[in-house]
Amino acid sequence: MNVATSIGKVDYDGLIPNNVGLGEDVRVKRALEKWHPGYIDWWKDMGPEGFQESLVYLRTAVSVDPKGWAKFDYVKMPDYKWGILLAPQAEGRTIPFGAHAGEPAWQEVPGEYRAMLRRLIVIQGDTEPASVEQQRHLGKTAPSLYDLRNLFQVNVEEGRHLWAMVYLLQKYFGTDGREEAEALLQRRSGDPDSPRMLGAFNEKTPDWLSFFMFTYFTDRDGKMQLEALAQSGFDPLSRTCRFMLTEEAHHMFVGETGVTRVIQRTCEAMKEAGITDPFDIARVRKLGVIDLPTIQKKANLHFSLTLDLFGNEISTNAANAFHAGLKGRYRENRLTDDHKLETSTYPVLRLIDGKIQNEDAPALSALNMRLRDDYVNDANVGVGRWNKVIESFGIPFQIKLPHVAFNRNIGEFSKVKADVDGKQMSEAEWASHRSDFLPNEQDKDFIESLMQPQYEAGKFASWIAPPKVGIDNKPGEFEYVKIA
Ligand SMILES: [Fe+2]
Ligand SMILES: [Fe+2]
Repeated sequence: MNVATSIGKVDYDGLIPNNVGLGEDVRVKRALEKWHPGYIDWWKDMGPEGFQESLVYLRTAVSVDPKGWAKFDYVKMPDYKWGILLAPQAEGRTIPFGAHAGEPAWQEVPGEYRAMLRRLIVIQGDTEPASVEQQRHLGKTAPSLYDLRNLFQVNVEEGRHLWAMVYLLQKYFGTDGREEAEALLQRRSGDPDSPRMLGAFNEKTPDWLSFFMFTYFTDRDGKMQLEALAQSGFDPLSRTCRFMLTEEAHHMFVGETGVTRVIQRTCEAMKEAGITDPFDIARVRKLGVIDLPTIQKKANLHFSLTLDLFGNEISTNAANAFHAGLKGRYRENRLTDDHKLETSTYPVLRLIDGKIQNEDAPALSALNMRLRDDYVNDANVGVGRWNKVIESFGIPFQIKLPHVAFNRNIGEFSKVKADVDGKQMSEAEWASHRSDFLPNEQDKDFIESLMQPQYEAGKFASWIAPPKVGIDNKPGEFEYVKIA
C-alpha cells in the first residue's frame, strides 16, 4: 500500500482504529488483539474510579488531518476507540542530526541501536498509564462536569499514548517488545515493589489543584520529550510522536486554564471581600478559595518534581541517543548549527566548589540540560499569563518559578538544599523553612476540605471560576458527563 495516498484515512471498523494498515499486518494485529484484554483490565482496575458506565462527551481522534482530526460524542470510557495514528510520512525525510545526519530516515529499527531505541520507547510509554493511575481518584471530587470531562479526556488520551508506544514495541521489537508491552501493564504508580520508572510518576495527585499543576508542568515535560523524539531518525517513532503532540496540547491547556481559573476565583473573592493583602491567608481561606501563597507552593512542588524528569545535567545516555540519531533537541529542525555537536559547548549550571555557577560542557553531554532550559522557558510563558490575571485585580503578588536547585532529587543539586531563590541552606534551615516553600499539612488539609464534588451541569465549586468557553463550543449548562 502506498502510504502517501492513505494519509488521513483511518480504518475505523475493526477493534483498533488505525492508519498503519493493521488489516494487512496479521502478525502485529494479532499481537495487539492479544494485548487488548489486558489493557481493558488495567483500565478498569487502574483507570478513573467510578464513572466507567457514565457517558462522557469526549473527542476521539479519527484522522491525522490537522484541520479536522477529532470528533466529539458521548462515549462510555471503556468503549473509547483507542487507535493507532501516526502523522503522515514525509516524502524523502532524512535523519536530522547526529552521526547519520542527512542519511534517509530509518523505516526499520537500526540494529546497532536497537536496545537504546527500545529503552527510549519504554520510558516514554511508562509515563502514559502512570498519570492515569495517579489521577484515578479525582473524579470523586470534580469541581464541575466540565472539569470532570477534561480529566477523562486527558485520561483516555494518555491511554491512547500507551497504545502508540505499544504499537511500536509490538511492530518493531519482536519477543522482547511483547514482553515490554506486558510489563507496561504490570507496573503501578507508587507501588513499592513495582513502581513506574520515573519519580514524578510515582507521586500522588491528591487534589484538583495538583491535577492542574501536573497537567501544566508535568505534561509539559511530556511535550518536550515528545518534541525531542519527534525529531528521531527512526521514522515511525517520529510520526507517532508528532501526532501525540496534537493531543498533548489540550492537556497543557487544561492545566494552564485550570490554574488561571483558580487564581481568577481567588482574586474575585478577595476583591469582593475587600482583602488587599494576599498574605492574609486565614481571611482569604474563609472565603472558600485558595490563597495565592498556597498556589505558589503547589507550583514549587510540581515544577521541582518535573525538573527531575530531565535527568542528570551531564549525561552520556543523552549524548549517545543524539549521536545515534534517535532523540534530538527541542525543535531540532529549526536550529541552524551543524546538528552534530561534536565540537561545540553548552553552559551548564553546576555545583562547583560548593557554589552554583555556569560551566561550559561539551554540548553533546549537556543535552538534558538544554532540553530542561527550553522547558523552563516554555513553562514561564503561562506563568506570565497567570500573573496578568493577578495584576488585573491590583493584588501585589506574583507567581514565580523556583530556582532549578530547589527541592531536587536528581542531578547536580540533589546533593544540596536550596531555597526558592537558589540560596543554599543547611539541613537544619531547610527543615525549619520547608513548609514556607512547599505545601504543609495545614495547606493540604485546607485544600482537601474544598474538594467537594459539584456535578450539577453549569455549576462550579466555590474555589474555581467557570471557563471562558465550553469544550466544542458547548454552552455553559451543557451536561459534559451523564453520570450513571
Ligand atoms: Fe501522553
Ligand atoms: Fe499528556
